[in-house]
Amino acid sequence: MTTVLAIDQGTSGTKAMVVDGADQVRSVVELPIRPRYLSGGGVEQDPAELLDSVLDSGRQAVAEAGVPIDCVTLANQGETVLAWDRPSGRPLSQAIVWQDRRAAEICAQRSDSAGMVAERTGLVLDSYFSAPKMRWVRENLTTEGVVTTSDTWLIHQLTGEFVTDVSTAGRSLLTDLDSVSWDAELLALFGLAGEELPRIVANDELVGETTLFGGTVPVGGLVVDQQAALLAQRCLDPGEAKCTFGTGAFLLANMGQAPVRSTSGLAASAAWRIRGETSYCFDGQVATAASAVRWLQSLGLIQGASELDRVAAADSDGVLCVPALAGLSAPWWAPDATASFSGMTLSTEAGHVVKAVLDGIAAQVAELADCAARDIGGGLSRLRVDGGLTRSRVLMQAVADLLQVQVDVYPSAHATALGAAGFARVAAKPGLPLGQAIVRWTPATSFTPRMRAVEAAAFRARWRAAVDATLIREN
Ligand code: G3P
Repeated sequence: MTTVLAIDQGTSGTKAMVVDGADQVRSVVELPIRPRYLSGGGVEQDPAELLDSVLDSGRQAVAEAGVPIDCVTLANQGETVLAWDRPSGRPLSQAIVWQDRRAAEICAQRSDSAGMVAERTGLVLDSYFSAPKMRWVRENLTTEGVVTTSDTWLIHQLTGEFVTDVSTAGRSLLTDLDSVSWDAELLALFGLAGEELPRIVANDELVGETTLFGGTVPVGGLVVDQQAALLAQRCLDPGEAKCTFGTGAFLLANMGQAPVRSTSGLAASAAWRIRGETSYCFDGQVATAASAVRWLQSLGLIQGASELDRVAAADSDGVLCVPALAGLSAPWWAPDATASFSGMTLSTEAGHVVKAVLDGIAAQVAELADCAARDIGGGLSRLRVDGGLTRSRVLMQAVADLLQVQVDVYPSAHATALGAAGFARVAAKPGLPLGQAIVRWTPATSFTPRMRAVEAAAFRARWRAAVDATLIREN
């Protein structure tokens, strides 16, 4: 089977992995990315840093793997946008990261159309998605060149092609949920009608070739990082759900091939299109997970994520945290919400604060799981989890406790890259069933609820009240 160079270009880093046809991971190279946090909710990345990280990590991974690669694929951040000059490929703006909230006003100005947007796109009119950011770039940074999501620019750098994939386009607010094609009315709504738009490709397409990793290698199997993890976690059937704990935490539940709008405040979007058939997912987001942990580190409460479990107290001693450091996404959709702590006293210690942040992340995930269960029409029987923060046993136990379901931990820290490799395998070998393209795995470990259901319900009621207080304060 195909040997793939899978590159996961994420918010906090770029990861390149070579996985061979026997499911052996031959190499993994990770390079950090340093987003810039600006006052007013701005979060930016340097496009040159993104591209360098893709090329450097990819080349190192190929060199370390010591085997020829058959296909290159890229998983992207989803809603991060930039302007660039199409003939030269030169960036014309910084990359405006999905966490950036400066386009909230663009959405507020269009609030009369929120119902139409939700019905048409399956998404919520919110600055998290790409179209408001594209409009914001046009109004505030440059009217030159094209404005696209970061995948389109990176793939153009690799292949010269001008494409995006179904799963990325479906998170733009510019496509209708049913056909996942550009929608003229939505483009007009965001003042983007005159823009040159990339071709939307399926997740099993080869889109071009690159010579940048040695030899001439086909490129394809492109996908959003969260949808890549959904595949890696083998969430192929309706109701199967995963949560990836990266910069943010993203809970996605497969909904099958009939697109359904969420009635509980989640996003509904394309999971992937394979052999012309589109599968869909419900999707909820915790805007800050590892970002919140890095914030704890910036305050000096921990030295790094590896210290979380050592520093976290056994309980938070009454401290409650709503970790809305970059607003609240699903199901509240309050980009201006800010983080809050309550219940602190003179006896509050660093360990209580750390535990409260972890509990706050877990509580948000539990809310999203409830929303997904409502949309699917039945509770989740278990939750599959992946991402760097799954190494925190304290956090994973809190997730199991507050969801009251078993949590199965993916055995590798690289689910996204492995999922992208699965799509590349299907792209390189048309006809390969999707289930057979997935790199095989069994859970590294599982967490079962230790907290009694009644205690979990009581905690979650207190936590929801803290969210309500946060939202009231913002209004
Ligand atoms: O929607 C943004 C998300 O997909 C970014 O993922 O891994 O960079 O936190 P990550």
